[in-house]
Amino acid sequence: MIREQEFMDKLSETRRYIIEKINMEPQMGIILGSGLGGFVELIEDKVSIPYQEIPNFPVSTVEGHKGQLVFGKVLGKPVVAMQGRFHFYEGYPMQEVTFPVRVMQVLGVSGLIVTNAAGGINPAYRPGDLVLLKDHINMMGDNPLRGANLSNLGPRFPDLSEGYDLEWRQKALTIAREVGIYPQEGIYAAMSGPSYESPAEIRFLRTVGADLVGMSTVPEVIVANHGGMRVLGISCVTNMAAGILSQRLSHAEVMETAERIEKQFVRFVQALVKG
Ligand code: 6GU
Repeated sequence: MIREQEFMDKLSETRRYIIEKINMEPQMGIILGSGLGGFVELIEDKVSIPYQEIPNFPVSTVEGHKGQLVFGKVLGKPVVAMQGRFHFYEGYPMQEVTFPVRVMQVLGVSGLIVTNAAGGINPAYRPGDLVLLKDHINMMGDNPLRGANLSNLGPRFPDLSEGYDLEWRQKALTIAREVGIYPQEGIYAAMSGPSYESPAEIRFLRTVGADLVGMSTVPEVIVANHGGMRVLGISCVTNMAAGILSQRLSHAEVMETAERIEKQFVRFVQALVKG
């Protein structure tokens, strides 16, 4: 109970700090994965707040990650984008990984678009494909809701049977076609990382129904659902997972593909925000 009150107090402090700086109420949140940071250039009337300046925010450790919340308008819609996220593999506890989602919740965000770079397991996928997530498999060995329930923020046992909003997904497919994008649909398995999976682990994930694998997204999606938000998840397949092709994995390939697809990805997210 004490811990719960402590957390709610911190969240209020963070909220007060942010609403002092912005003169809008974001409706939609966007978590930008690797190589999607260029989306912030579409945001108008920007107010950017570096993570280090936000009370109670975890401090980003990874170089090359901007690490800021960007508030503003995309085609007239008030949004908040996270440029850079906190990964479980960096050592942050799940509550810290997902703290920004709680902040979005108390700022009034009702829809969250979560993006990432992922490895392809489904052999019909190719590097560069965009995939609309229809479900996930949490293999991270932890859950951001573990511990006392934050009963002001959501239920003890939240339902995840539509963790990725069906109506929003269907609309997203229509919008995608209108802008000449043809996404796959798939199931995302989240691993703790930071090592990539072994070929045997990838065969296991394929057997249990995963189409993609990555090291993020699932904690944020669980918390967003707990908080009553609608969620849309999009992955960019940056490489095929271990053992799918006879080639080795490299972070360089991940970054190269993310960069190659960035423009298309940004165009898709813009169209989604427009709705
Ligand atoms: Cl193959 N695995 C994981 N866990 N994350 C990735 C990936 C693979 N490719 C890009 N991100």
